[in-house]
Amino acid sequence: MDKTESDCRQESFSTRVIAEQFKKKDIHGAISMPIYRNAAFEFADSESIAAAFQYKEEVASHTYSRITNPTVENLERKMKAASGAQNVQAVASGMAAISNTLMTIVWSGCNVVSSPHLFGNTFSFFKFTLSFLGVEVRFVNTDNLEEIEAAIDQNTVGFFCELITNPNMEIADLEKISPLLKAKDVPMIVDSTIVPWCGFSASKFGADIEIVSTTKYISGGATSLGGAILDYGTFNWRKNKVLGMYSKSPEMSQFSFRLKREIARNFGACMDPDVAYMQSLGMETLELRFKAVSDAAYEIASFLEAQPEVKKVGYTALESSRYKAISDKMFTTNPGAMLTFNLESLEKCYQLMDQLKLVRRATNLFDNKTLIIHPYSTIYGTFSKEMKDKMGIEDNLLRLSVGLEGVEDLKSDLRQALDKL
Ligand SMILES: Cc1ncc(COP(=O)(O)O)c(C=O)c1O
Repeated sequence: MDKTESDCRQESFSTRVIAEQFKKKDIHGAISMPIYRNAAFEFADSESIAAAFQYKEEVASHTYSRITNPTVENLERKMKAASGAQNVQAVASGMAAISNTLMTIVWSGCNVVSSPHLFGNTFSFFKFTLSFLGVEVRFVNTDNLEEIEAAIDQNTVGFFCELITNPNMEIADLEKISPLLKAKDVPMIVDSTIVPWCGFSASKFGADIEIVSTTKYISGGATSLGGAILDYGTFNWRKNKVLGMYSKSPEMSQFSFRLKREIARNFGACMDPDVAYMQSLGMETLELRFKAVSDAAYEIASFLEAQPEVKKVGYTALESSRYKAISDKMFTTNPGAMLTFNLESLEKCYQLMDQLKLVRRATNLFDNKTLIIHPYSTIYGTFSKEMKDKMGIEDNLLRLSVGLEGVEDLKSDLRQALDKL
């Protein structure tokens, strides 16, 4: 039975994601979309294969799995139901989502405005990969609206930021930045990996394009690597020197048209169907897991703040965070599982890490297991001191990604390690 618009509005996040139907009914009645591992799809005759390649079918078929695949498409449909995006493109990793997005909008001589406080590979992609292609990334303080405005000119193709910067734990006030970007005809591109759709609605705060590393929450516990690019269809790309040449249709912006028909398939960083299967299951438990780890992170952040050995805690829902008001405004829950804390020195950070028994020493975020890392010596370990200073990476900072273990067990592990410093 078809749902009315008001039925959809009343449905919870998990209902929308779980109830999302396949595009075509499975011939065996499978209840979860099967894994279509095949590379190619067969057609009955030459007319129908030609129609598929020329986009002349009423319901598009799959032709080749680098281009589209039923299992991957099913995950994209769940992400659409979760976010309200007009178009979603799943890709091989979060970095593939970032690079495919940027490659869709840039040309030699253009510029992008961004905070310098970025995940290490994103910074490296901006600072090195893009700059050798003639694309300038203008780093600004996203707390300063005048600085953002001054950096924009007629060749600015986008404003980029991470929703909560990793590991600096800052939030750009998107609601305030959005009118400024709209007045200058600049799209807002947000990497929302740190708080997924059940805690944050990107389009409500002005994002035109949203990028997610689905390796994190969506994968259902670090099962697989993946990424997604979401287009809300809210930006008119006519002034973009490249995208302005593409036509805009009711179903697809010039951005999604070029991304899907040219960039994603030419770069070939497609999502694997096995990954799409795991991540579709991850989507179904996302709300439940996100709420549990976010509440646990708040409790652990509060606990750490009360320990004398801890100098500072970074978690935007804490009263002590200068982003608390923005955090409460933007997020419908506690803001995720990532928190940071500072000890007296780098040596104390190493000592604490070495004493932990339950918490694992590993990179990644939003595993079901709690993970700790010293970003200065690892993720940013090969950057020069000058670069680390520019990115605001402190040598006495630890990053914790809280998992699904019992909160009291995690507190005991942290306390016994603090006792040994
Ligand atoms: C905010 C953010 N964006 C993007 C990425 C890259 O994601 P992936 O490792 O899936 O390529 C990460 C990885 O940690 C991240 O934290």
